[in-house]
Amino acid sequence: MEKKTYYITTPIYYPSAKLHIGHTYCTVNTDAFARYKRLTGHDVYFLTGADEHGQKIERSAADQGVTPQQYVDRIVEGFHSLWNLMDISNDGFVRTTDDYHMECVQKVFKKLYEQGDIYKSSYKGMYCTPCESFWTETQLKESGGVCPDCGRPVEEVEEESYFLRVSKYAPRLIEYIQANPDFIQPASRAKEMLNNFLLPGLEDLCVSRSTFKWGVPVSFDERHVIYVWFDAVLNYLSKLGYLSEDDSMFRKYWPADVHIVGKEIVRFHTIVWPIMLMALGLPLPKQVYGHGWLVLDGKKMGKSTGNVVDPEKLVERYGVDAIRYFLLSEFPFGSDGNFNNETLITRINSDLANDLGNLLSRTVAMIEKYFGGMVPEAAAPIPEEDDTIIPIAAALADRVEECMNALHPNDALSEIFKLIRLCNKYIDITAPWLLAKDETKRPRLGTVLYNLAECLRIASVCLRPFLTRTAPKIFAQLGIGDDASITEFDSIHEFGKLPTGLKVEKGEALFPRIDIAKELEHLETLLPKHEAASVPESSANDIVETKSEPESGKAQPDATKPEEKPEISYDEFAKLDLRVAKVVACEEVKKSKKLLKCTLEVGQETRTVLSGIKAWYSPENLIGKTVVLVANLAPKKICGIESHGMILCASDEGDVNLSALTTMSEMESGLKIR
Ligand code: MSP
Repeated sequence: MEKKTYYITTPIYYPSAKLHIGHTYCTVNTDAFARYKRLTGHDVYFLTGADEHGQKIERSAADQGVTPQQYVDRIVEGFHSLWNLMDISNDGFVRTTDDYHMECVQKVFKKLYEQGDIYKSSYKGMYCTPCESFWTETQLKESGGVCPDCGRPVEEVEEESYFLRVSKYAPRLIEYIQANPDFIQPASRAKEMLNNFLLPGLEDLCVSRSTFKWGVPVSFDERHVIYVWFDAVLNYLSKLGYLSEDDSMFRKYWPADVHIVGKEIVRFHTIVWPIMLMALGLPLPKQVYGHGWLVLDGKKMGKSTGNVVDPEKLVERYGVDAIRYFLLSEFPFGSDGNFNNETLITRINSDLANDLGNLLSRTVAMIEKYFGGMVPEAAAPIPEEDDTIIPIAAALADRVEECMNALHPNDALSEIFKLIRLCNKYIDITAPWLLAKDETKRPRLGTVLYNLAECLRIASVCLRPFLTRTAPKIFAQLGIGDDASITEFDSIHEFGKLPTGLKVEKGEALFPRIDIAKELEHLETLLPKHEAASVPESSANDIVETKSEPESGKAQPDATKPEEKPEISYDEFAKLDLRVAKVVACEEVKKSKKLLKCTLEVGQETRTVLSGIKAWYSPENLIGKTVVLVANLAPKKICGIESHGMILCASDEGDVNLSALTTMSEMESGLKIR
């Protein structure tokens, strides 16, 4: 029987700098989906690549005094070595500077021009070069004049351009999205696309540029290069040979099963791309999944801001599987997640070294000790003990399948680790070392150890898409080797397929335990110095004097969007002791350019609080005012003065406007804010 095909893609990344842990997060998750589909018998085509055109690349190359091609070649080499290091199993790698791709883009552009879906007109508009995006006036109004995606300034460009008749296809697309709720996932992103972009009405999209050269030339009008996003999304077709002499791959794999993309580029993938496909008369991808961002101390990592985590350094230190595990298990795929050193080490220690590593070493050691290293036979079960693991192991394949089909790898891993933890408990309940003391209990001892080895086999088969190096190591220790009949997914729907008599062999510990305290110190030296890291209360009235200024001409990212921090529980919120306070005295701190020393009345208590708001308030303006105080913030000595608490302020990203928070009507000092 022919295998079912499965076509999955990552975004093609810009080779504008080294890739960081955020790109790795997307690619590792996509890799796990691809591996999982292969394991479950699909004919998978997994595509990733590099998006090499555009003004930004042209400028960066010029800055470095090299040609754009030389510039991208060097960076793309780094992509390959990173994906090798991360055990990424992509079947194809597309570069938008490859000939087949450029030809495909030119043919599509010409075809759409000839059929009237692309037309020439003149364009005046606001463009964000880093995002290679045009924005309409309405969109810019809502974002305060900066790029709604990245928060950087936009530039006015006026040129004669080609336009894609987006408006013609928008009604069909709206209908399609409404009729196909699985098309855009998670569902919240579909709503966002409809409400923020499609329903308010789309303007035709400018799809060519003539103010720079680094792009795919319009074949019939070489003064123009094709808009980089029009060029980029076509990678999903060009690599399959669409419109080329041999389009067998295209006929086999299109439409894609899923495009995995970050949430900020869902718009291009669910509006522009589907409209291009509609114009070409092609089926749409079955799904576009917009995953969340990895943030570092609440801020999006960004190549341009430098607050990035280098995956290579982490892999060098902890090994590829530990990092894959963390990226696959720690964050719900559709939501943002905070990257944190301590969580990384804790997860390696608790899940991998303790739960998984110990289960394997204990099981193998006991089989060696009590059965000469041969996997024993299972005798009659004792349901109240064995039912704590056997039914869970027997159902694991289905559970994992469900989670992986929903693209929830973290849930799949948590199901697998649930079994692993239950097995460790099972050892405690059955106490094999006591069974071993009584010869009449030998059959029971055999059963217990068989069950453990079988659970480990089942868990390890499930782990194959996630822990590419560890699963084979476990198979080796269990004496299974690479026997497909017991390492494939099909072999784990039923409990008890592990043959008895296999020779187990103790190997090295899978994951050595890490000394957390020592390691955190080391990690501090590896990871970027991020101002917020040591000063969680960082804000416009940050009491730290070293707060860096935004580089001139380069705005900080995400100025317009509320910073998305991970959700917290009410209990976590309730840990904050927020109080109404009155400023009873205030003076400038002599040694500081930013600080005011405020004396606050908080009920019966008087507090000294330093606040970095000198640029916005003079002491006289503050005296007598009611402010909001974070009262239970640990005291900190700054400029020789102990500051106890923080005055809350609202500010814009560049700290141009700042306002201390107050209450709408006069309230007594000391009152709780909740
Ligand atoms: N070249 C375009 C994509 C074209 S696809 C036809 C692009 N490139 S990019 O280099 O900026 O990569 C963006 C993608 O990288 C995101 O959509 C996301 O998948 C991934 N990530 C980049 N930073 C990330 C985080 N901080 N967290 C999670 N993923 C991140 O946009």
